[in-house]
Amino acid sequence: MMKINRLSITEAFPVFISSTCKNATKQDLSDIIEDHKNLFHELLLKHGALVFRNFAINNATDFSDIIESLELGNFVNYVGGDSPRDKVKDKVYTSTEAPANLHIPLHQELSFIKNHPKHIYFYCEVEPEVGGATIIGDARRVLKSIHPSVKEQFQQKGLTYVSHYFHQSKLMELVNRIQRSHKSWPEVFETYSKQDVEKMCLTNEFDWQWLKHDWLEIQQTRPATLSHPSTQEDVWFNQAHLYDFNPKLLGWKRYLAAKLFYMRKSMRLHEIMFADKSLIPRQSLYHVLDVLNQSTVSFPWKRGDVMVLDNILSMHGRAPFSGKRRILTALTA
Ligand SMILES: [Fe+2]
Repeated sequence: MMKINRLSITEAFPVFISSTCKNATKQDLSDIIEDHKNLFHELLLKHGALVFRNFAINNATDFSDIIESLELGNFVNYVGGDSPRDKVKDKVYTSTEAPANLHIPLHQELSFIKNHPKHIYFYCEVEPEVGGATIIGDARRVLKSIHPSVKEQFQQKGLTYVSHYFHQSKLMELVNRIQRSHKSWPEVFETYSKQDVEKMCLTNEFDWQWLKHDWLEIQQTRPATLSHPSTQEDVWFNQAHLYDFNPKLLGWKRYLAAKLFYMRKSMRLHEIMFADKSLIPRQSLYHVLDVLNQSTVSFPWKRGDVMVLDNILSMHGRAPFSGKRRILTALTA
Protein backbone atom coordinates (compact mmCIF):
# COMPACT_ATOMS: atom_id res chain seq x y z
CA MET A 1 0.00 0.00 0.00
CA MET A 2 1.25 3.48 -0.94
CA LYS A 3 0.56 6.49 1.29
CA ILE A 4 0.56 9.97 -0.25
CA ASN A 5 -0.57 12.91 1.89
CA ARG A 6 -4.11 11.98 2.90
CA LEU A 7 -4.44 9.13 0.44
CA SER A 8 -4.00 5.39 0.60
CA ILE A 9 -3.39 3.58 -2.67
CA THR A 10 -3.73 -0.19 -2.87
CA GLU A 11 -2.41 -1.74 -6.05
CA ALA A 12 -4.83 -4.49 -6.95
CA PHE A 13 -7.56 -5.08 -9.50
CA PRO A 14 -9.10 -2.53 -9.21
CA VAL A 15 -6.53 -0.12 -7.70
CA PHE A 16 -8.16 1.52 -4.64
CA ILE A 17 -7.42 5.21 -4.14
CA SER A 18 -9.09 6.25 -0.89
CA SER A 19 -9.11 9.34 1.19
CA THR A 20 -7.88 8.73 4.75
CA CYS A 21 -9.75 11.81 6.03
CA LYS A 22 -13.34 12.08 6.97
CA ASN A 23 -15.41 14.53 4.95
CA ALA A 24 -13.13 14.67 1.90
CA THR A 25 -14.93 16.71 -0.74
CA LYS A 26 -15.18 16.61 -4.51
CA GLN A 27 -12.80 19.56 -4.62
CA ASP A 28 -10.29 17.54 -2.55
CA LEU A 29 -10.46 14.76 -5.13
CA SER A 30 -10.11 17.23 -8.03
CA ASP A 31 -7.00 18.72 -6.34
CA ILE A 32 -5.54 15.25 -5.69
CA ILE A 33 -6.11 14.30 -9.33
CA GLU A 34 -4.46 17.54 -10.43
CA ASP A 35 -1.38 16.74 -8.29
CA HIS A 36 -1.08 13.04 -9.15
CA LYS A 37 -2.55 12.75 -12.64
CA ASN A 38 0.49 11.05 -14.14
CA LEU A 39 0.63 8.47 -11.34
CA PHE A 40 -3.08 7.65 -11.83
CA HIS A 41 -2.63 7.35 -15.59
CA GLU A 42 0.31 4.96 -15.06
CA LEU A 43 -1.64 2.86 -12.56
CA LEU A 44 -4.54 2.69 -15.00
CA LEU A 45 -2.29 1.44 -17.81
CA LYS A 46 -0.70 -1.13 -15.49
CA HIS A 47 -3.82 -2.49 -13.76
CA GLY A 48 -6.66 -1.41 -16.07
CA ALA A 49 -9.02 -0.25 -13.30
CA LEU A 50 -9.08 2.46 -10.59
CA VAL A 51 -11.61 3.22 -7.87
CA PHE A 52 -11.81 6.51 -5.97
CA ARG A 53 -13.48 6.02 -2.58
CA ASN A 54 -14.36 8.12 0.46
CA PHE A 55 -14.89 11.38 -1.38
CA ALA A 56 -18.20 13.24 -1.37
CA ILE A 57 -19.19 12.65 -5.00
CA ASN A 58 -22.88 13.41 -4.71
CA ASN A 59 -24.43 13.55 -8.15
CA ALA A 60 -24.02 13.27 -11.91
CA THR A 61 -22.44 16.74 -12.11
CA ASP A 62 -19.76 15.84 -9.55
CA PHE A 63 -19.15 12.63 -11.48
CA SER A 64 -18.65 14.38 -14.81
CA ASP A 65 -16.41 17.03 -13.15
CA ILE A 66 -14.14 14.26 -11.84
CA ILE A 67 -14.00 12.65 -15.28
CA GLU A 68 -12.99 15.98 -16.78
CA SER A 69 -10.26 16.50 -14.20
CA LEU A 70 -8.73 13.11 -15.09
CA GLU A 71 -8.13 14.32 -18.66
CA LEU A 72 -8.15 10.87 -20.24
CA GLY A 73 -10.13 11.97 -23.29
CA ASN A 74 -13.24 13.76 -24.52
CA PHE A 75 -16.74 12.67 -23.61
CA VAL A 76 -18.55 10.64 -26.24
CA ASN A 77 -22.21 9.68 -26.52
CA TYR A 78 -23.39 6.08 -26.33
CA VAL A 79 -24.20 6.24 -30.05
CA GLY A 80 -24.26 2.83 -31.74
CA GLY A 81 -24.86 1.04 -28.44
CA ASP A 82 -28.14 -0.77 -27.94
CA SER A 83 -28.18 -1.68 -24.28
CA PRO A 84 -31.26 0.01 -22.77
CA ARG A 85 -30.19 3.04 -20.73
CA ASP A 86 -31.31 6.60 -20.00
CA LYS A 87 -29.47 9.86 -20.46
CA VAL A 88 -29.16 11.58 -17.07
CA LYS A 89 -27.41 14.70 -18.27
CA ASP A 90 -25.23 15.58 -21.20
CA LYS A 91 -22.97 12.51 -21.81
CA VAL A 92 -23.88 10.82 -18.49
CA TYR A 93 -26.17 7.79 -18.68
CA THR A 94 -27.66 5.25 -16.33
CA SER A 95 -25.79 1.96 -16.57
CA THR A 96 -27.81 -0.71 -18.33
CA GLU A 97 -31.55 -0.91 -17.61
CA ALA A 98 -31.54 -4.56 -18.73
CA PRO A 99 -33.71 -6.80 -16.48
CA ALA A 100 -32.34 -6.91 -12.92
CA ASN A 101 -32.29 -10.70 -12.77
CA LEU A 102 -30.08 -11.01 -15.85
CA HIS A 103 -26.35 -11.63 -15.39
CA ILE A 104 -24.47 -9.47 -17.88
CA PRO A 105 -21.16 -11.15 -18.71
CA LEU A 106 -17.88 -9.28 -19.05
CA HIS A 107 -17.38 -7.16 -22.16
CA GLN A 108 -15.67 -3.93 -23.24
CA GLU A 109 -18.07 -1.12 -24.09
CA LEU A 110 -18.87 -0.85 -27.82
CA SER A 111 -15.96 -3.15 -28.70
CA PHE A 112 -17.78 -3.96 -31.95
CA ILE A 113 -17.37 -0.37 -33.16
CA LYS A 114 -14.28 0.97 -34.92
CA ASN A 115 -14.30 4.23 -32.94
CA HIS A 116 -14.83 2.53 -29.59
CA PRO A 117 -14.45 4.51 -26.35
CA LYS A 118 -11.01 4.31 -24.70
CA HIS A 119 -12.29 4.67 -21.15
CA ILE A 120 -15.51 3.93 -19.30
CA TYR A 121 -16.47 5.43 -15.94
CA PHE A 122 -19.02 4.32 -13.36
CA TYR A 123 -20.42 6.15 -10.36
CA CYS A 124 -22.50 4.75 -7.53
CA GLU A 125 -25.38 7.11 -6.79
CA VAL A 126 -27.48 4.52 -4.95
CA GLU A 127 -25.81 1.42 -3.48
CA PRO A 128 -27.40 -1.83 -4.67
CA GLU A 129 -29.69 -3.35 -2.03
CA VAL A 130 -29.11 -7.01 -2.88
CA GLY A 131 -26.46 -8.20 -5.35
CA GLY A 132 -25.82 -5.77 -8.22
CA ALA A 133 -22.02 -5.69 -8.08
CA THR A 134 -20.30 -4.42 -11.19
CA ILE A 135 -18.08 -7.24 -12.32
CA ILE A 136 -14.71 -6.58 -13.94
CA GLY A 137 -12.08 -8.70 -15.67
CA ASP A 138 -8.59 -8.32 -17.13
CA ALA A 139 -8.86 -8.71 -20.93
CA ARG A 140 -5.16 -9.65 -21.19
CA ARG A 141 -5.77 -12.64 -18.93
CA VAL A 142 -8.96 -13.51 -20.78
CA LEU A 143 -7.05 -13.73 -24.07
CA LYS A 144 -4.45 -16.00 -22.47
CA SER A 145 -7.18 -18.28 -21.10
CA ILE A 146 -9.07 -18.76 -24.37
CA HIS A 147 -8.25 -22.15 -25.92
CA PRO A 148 -5.63 -21.70 -28.70
CA SER A 149 -7.86 -23.30 -31.36
CA VAL A 150 -10.77 -20.95 -30.55
CA LYS A 151 -8.46 -17.94 -30.40
CA GLU A 152 -6.88 -18.84 -33.73
CA GLN A 153 -10.22 -19.28 -35.48
CA PHE A 154 -11.61 -15.99 -34.12
CA GLN A 155 -8.42 -14.10 -34.97
CA GLN A 156 -8.07 -15.51 -38.47
CA LYS A 157 -11.68 -15.13 -39.50
CA GLY A 158 -12.79 -11.94 -37.73
CA LEU A 159 -16.42 -11.30 -36.76
CA THR A 160 -19.49 -9.87 -38.47
CA TYR A 161 -22.11 -8.32 -36.19
CA VAL A 162 -25.64 -7.85 -37.52
CA SER A 163 -28.32 -5.72 -35.79
CA HIS A 164 -31.87 -4.71 -36.64
CA TYR A 165 -33.61 -1.66 -35.23
CA PHE A 166 -37.17 -0.42 -35.71
CA HIS A 167 -38.46 3.13 -36.06
CA GLN A 168 -42.10 3.22 -35.04
CA SER A 169 -43.70 -0.08 -34.20
CA LYS A 170 -46.63 -0.69 -31.86
CA LEU A 171 -45.49 -4.28 -31.40
CA MET A 172 -41.95 -3.30 -30.39
CA GLU A 173 -43.22 -0.58 -28.09
CA LEU A 174 -45.37 -3.18 -26.36
CA VAL A 175 -42.41 -5.56 -26.06
CA ASN A 176 -40.28 -2.82 -24.54
CA ARG A 177 -43.05 -1.93 -22.09
CA ILE A 178 -42.99 -5.51 -20.83
CA GLN A 179 -39.19 -5.65 -20.78
CA ARG A 180 -36.80 -3.03 -22.15
CA SER A 181 -34.83 -5.10 -24.59
CA HIS A 182 -34.89 -3.75 -28.16
CA LYS A 183 -34.07 -0.14 -28.98
CA SER A 184 -35.28 1.80 -32.00
CA TRP A 185 -32.72 3.30 -34.39
CA PRO A 186 -33.49 6.89 -33.23
CA GLU A 187 -32.56 5.70 -29.72
CA VAL A 188 -29.42 3.89 -30.85
CA PHE A 189 -28.18 6.82 -32.94
CA GLU A 190 -29.73 9.62 -30.84
CA THR A 191 -31.25 11.23 -33.94
CA TYR A 192 -34.41 11.03 -36.07
CA SER A 193 -32.49 11.95 -39.23
CA LYS A 194 -31.74 9.10 -41.60
CA GLN A 195 -29.00 11.19 -43.16
CA ASP A 196 -27.28 11.59 -39.79
CA VAL A 197 -27.57 7.85 -39.21
CA GLU A 198 -25.94 7.21 -42.56
CA LYS A 199 -23.12 9.65 -41.76
CA MET A 200 -22.44 7.84 -38.48
CA CYS A 201 -22.49 4.52 -40.30
CA LEU A 202 -19.87 5.79 -42.75
CA THR A 203 -17.65 7.15 -39.95
CA ASN A 204 -17.78 3.84 -38.12
CA GLU A 205 -17.51 1.65 -41.24
CA PHE A 206 -20.95 0.08 -40.73
CA ASP A 207 -22.81 -1.32 -43.73
CA TRP A 208 -26.44 -0.31 -43.51
CA GLN A 209 -29.66 -1.08 -45.27
CA TRP A 210 -33.09 0.48 -44.80
CA LEU A 211 -35.69 -2.25 -44.67
CA LYS A 212 -39.50 -2.35 -44.94
CA HIS A 213 -41.45 -0.25 -42.42
CA ASP A 214 -38.37 1.88 -41.73
CA TRP A 215 -36.41 -0.84 -40.03
CA LEU A 216 -32.63 -0.52 -40.23
CA GLU A 217 -30.08 -3.30 -40.65
CA ILE A 218 -26.50 -2.63 -39.58
CA GLN A 219 -23.56 -4.92 -40.34
CA GLN A 220 -19.98 -4.48 -39.28
CA THR A 221 -16.91 -6.63 -39.48
CA ARG A 222 -14.37 -6.29 -36.72
CA PRO A 223 -11.35 -8.19 -35.40
CA ALA A 224 -11.74 -10.43 -32.34
CA THR A 225 -8.61 -9.22 -30.56
CA LEU A 226 -6.77 -5.93 -30.29
CA SER A 227 -3.35 -4.55 -29.31
CA HIS A 228 -3.51 -1.76 -26.76
CA PRO A 229 -2.31 1.44 -28.49
CA SER A 230 -0.06 2.45 -25.55
CA THR A 231 1.13 -0.82 -24.03
CA GLN A 232 0.94 -2.98 -27.18
CA GLU A 233 -0.51 -5.79 -25.06
CA ASP A 234 -2.93 -8.10 -26.86
CA VAL A 235 -6.44 -8.44 -25.43
CA TRP A 236 -9.69 -10.28 -26.17
CA PHE A 237 -11.85 -7.52 -27.63
CA ASN A 238 -15.22 -8.49 -29.05
CA GLN A 239 -18.86 -9.05 -28.11
CA ALA A 240 -19.55 -12.26 -30.02
CA HIS A 241 -20.68 -13.85 -26.74
CA LEU A 242 -23.39 -11.20 -26.28
CA TYR A 243 -24.65 -11.28 -29.89
CA ASP A 244 -25.55 -14.97 -29.94
CA PHE A 245 -28.85 -15.57 -28.15
CA ASN A 246 -28.43 -18.92 -26.44
CA PRO A 247 -29.67 -20.62 -23.25
CA LYS A 248 -26.34 -20.21 -21.45
CA LEU A 249 -26.46 -16.44 -21.92
CA LEU A 250 -30.19 -15.84 -21.45
CA GLY A 251 -31.45 -18.81 -19.45
CA TRP A 252 -33.96 -21.22 -21.02
CA LYS A 253 -37.12 -19.16 -20.49
CA ARG A 254 -35.75 -15.99 -22.04
CA TYR A 255 -33.98 -17.95 -24.79
CA LEU A 256 -37.19 -19.72 -25.87
CA ALA A 257 -39.13 -16.43 -25.80
CA ALA A 258 -36.43 -14.75 -27.95
CA LYS A 259 -36.37 -17.70 -30.36
CA LEU A 260 -40.13 -17.47 -30.86
CA PHE A 261 -40.22 -13.71 -31.08
CA TYR A 262 -37.29 -13.38 -33.47
CA MET A 263 -38.43 -16.01 -35.98
CA ARG A 264 -38.29 -13.35 -38.70
CA LYS A 265 -34.62 -12.76 -39.51
CA SER A 266 -35.18 -9.12 -40.47
CA MET A 267 -36.38 -8.32 -36.92
CA ARG A 268 -33.63 -10.02 -34.97
CA LEU A 269 -31.91 -7.64 -32.60
CA HIS A 270 -28.53 -9.36 -32.94
CA GLU A 271 -26.76 -12.01 -34.97
CA ILE A 272 -23.10 -12.94 -35.04
CA MET A 273 -21.03 -14.92 -37.52
CA PHE A 274 -17.47 -15.18 -38.71
CA ALA A 275 -16.57 -12.56 -41.32
CA ASP A 276 -16.61 -15.22 -44.08
CA LYS A 277 -20.29 -15.73 -43.06
CA SER A 278 -19.62 -19.18 -41.60
CA LEU A 279 -21.29 -20.10 -38.31
CA ILE A 280 -19.45 -19.70 -35.02
CA PRO A 281 -19.70 -23.06 -33.22
CA ARG A 282 -21.87 -22.54 -30.16
CA GLN A 283 -19.38 -24.61 -28.15
CA SER A 284 -16.76 -21.92 -28.86
CA LEU A 285 -19.10 -19.21 -27.59
CA TYR A 286 -19.86 -21.30 -24.50
CA HIS A 287 -16.12 -21.70 -23.94
CA VAL A 288 -15.73 -17.90 -24.14
CA LEU A 289 -18.57 -17.43 -21.62
CA ASP A 290 -16.88 -19.95 -19.30
CA VAL A 291 -13.52 -18.15 -19.53
CA LEU A 292 -15.23 -14.82 -18.84
CA ASN A 293 -16.97 -16.25 -15.78
CA GLN A 294 -13.68 -17.65 -14.48
CA SER A 295 -12.01 -14.26 -15.04
CA THR A 296 -14.70 -12.30 -13.20
CA VAL A 297 -13.83 -10.13 -10.20
CA SER A 298 -16.80 -8.80 -8.25
CA PHE A 299 -16.79 -5.17 -7.20
CA PRO A 300 -19.39 -4.30 -4.54
CA TRP A 301 -20.29 -0.62 -4.58
CA LYS A 302 -20.22 2.01 -1.84
CA ARG A 303 -22.19 5.19 -2.42
CA GLY A 304 -19.97 7.89 -4.00
CA ASP A 305 -17.46 5.44 -5.54
CA VAL A 306 -16.09 6.40 -8.93
CA MET A 307 -14.60 3.62 -11.03
CA VAL A 308 -12.40 4.25 -14.07
CA LEU A 309 -11.68 1.45 -16.53
CA ASP A 310 -9.32 1.37 -19.47
CA ASN A 311 -11.94 0.04 -21.90
CA ILE A 312 -9.36 -2.05 -23.78
CA LEU A 313 -7.49 -3.64 -20.86
CA SER A 314 -10.53 -4.14 -18.64
CA MET A 315 -13.93 -5.66 -19.18
CA HIS A 316 -17.08 -5.02 -17.14
CA GLY A 317 -20.49 -6.55 -16.59
CA ARG A 318 -23.25 -6.69 -13.96
CA ALA A 319 -24.32 -9.22 -11.37
CA PRO A 320 -28.09 -9.72 -10.95
CA PHE A 321 -29.75 -7.64 -8.24
CA SER A 322 -32.99 -6.85 -6.52
CA GLY A 323 -34.21 -3.65 -4.92
CA LYS A 324 -32.78 -0.23 -5.53
CA ARG A 325 -29.58 0.35 -7.51
CA ARG A 326 -28.46 3.41 -9.45
CA ILE A 327 -25.08 3.32 -11.13
CA LEU A 328 -24.27 6.05 -13.66
CA THR A 329 -21.81 5.72 -16.51
CA ALA A 330 -19.94 7.84 -19.06
CA LEU A 331 -17.45 7.26 -21.86
CA THR A 332 -14.46 9.10 -23.25
CA ALA A 333 -12.41 8.56 -26.38
FE1 LIG B 1 -21.32 -2.31 -20.80
